[in-house]
Amino acid sequence: MTSRPLTIAILGGTGQEGSGLALRLGKAGHRVVLGSRDAARAAAAAGEMNGALGRDAVSGATNMAAAGAADIVMLTVPYAAQHATVEEVREALRGKILIDTTVPLVPPKVARVQLPPEGSAVAVIQALLGAEVRVVSAFQNVSAHRLRDLEQEVDCDVLVCGDDAAAREIVIGLAADIGLSAYHAGPICNSAAAEALTSVLIAINMRYKSPGAGIRITGVPEREGKPEPGA
Ligand SMILES: NC(=O)c1ccc[n+]([C@@H]2O[C@H](COP(=O)([O-])OP(=O)(O)OC[C@H]3O[C@@H](n4cnc5c(N)ncnc54)[C@H](OP(=O)(O)O)[C@@H]3O)[C@@H](O)[C@H]2O)c1
Repeated sequence: MTSRPLTIAILGGTGQEGSGLALRLGKAGHRVVLGSRDAARAAAAAGEMNGALGRDAVSGATNMAAAGAADIVMLTVPYAAQHATVEEVREALRGKILIDTTVPLVPPKVARVQLPPEGSAVAVIQALLGAEVRVVSAFQNVSAHRLRDLEQEVDCDVLVCGDDAAAREIVIGLAADIGLSAYHAGPICNSAAAEALTSVLIAINMRYKSPGAGIRITGVPEREGKPEPGA
């Protein structure tokens, strides 16, 4: 668990995955700033989320303003927009943790693993930003549909990859805040496995008509920081 409420920007937070994470993080007591290409769209989405949450936990801004205002920045835009969005907010990311949820899906064959030639979409972003930004890959396997249904716990674990162990630990704490068990899963290059796994989950969703298959890590002893059931 994180020790204090944080201000978390979610770039692309008007969309499926970002809005699910925003609702969960807002419910957990964090302040969320939705980022969008259109500040008015973000403000409208934030208003709807506050209505659902019953309190003013979420606000809206442009992606740049959201990133600038935050302690931690999350990226939840489609793969095709990942690079350009990061370039746009690059100055505001300096010294911060960037949690990148991107899966390199290449429509229309989204149920097929199509990793970039560099191996991992998120590792490419760490290489782009350099040591000034600690990039952590997480939440690729957590269905937006499940996140947005606040009535239900999310039945999925989180693989957390990044080159900085302390940054990974902070992201594991955020996941615990929203009731998810998250695991140190190695350096940023290992994000390739989480990214690939999402296409496998999409294939399973299609075959079994599920709105959100997930993953579980087994065989790991009980450990500090594991979320309580119902958190
Ligand atoms: N959906 C899931 O279940 C899921 C699960 C795990 C991971 N992810 C990952 O999360 C990311 C977002 O997925 P999503 O399903 O939430 O996508 P989405 O709803 O289609 O898009 C998210 C937001 O990205 C912004 N956006 C769209 N096109 C853009 C562009 N060309 N340039 C800049 N911003 C653009 C939009 O915000 P504005 O129009 O307000 O700017 C949009 O609301 C993806 O990388 C995906 O792989 C998704």
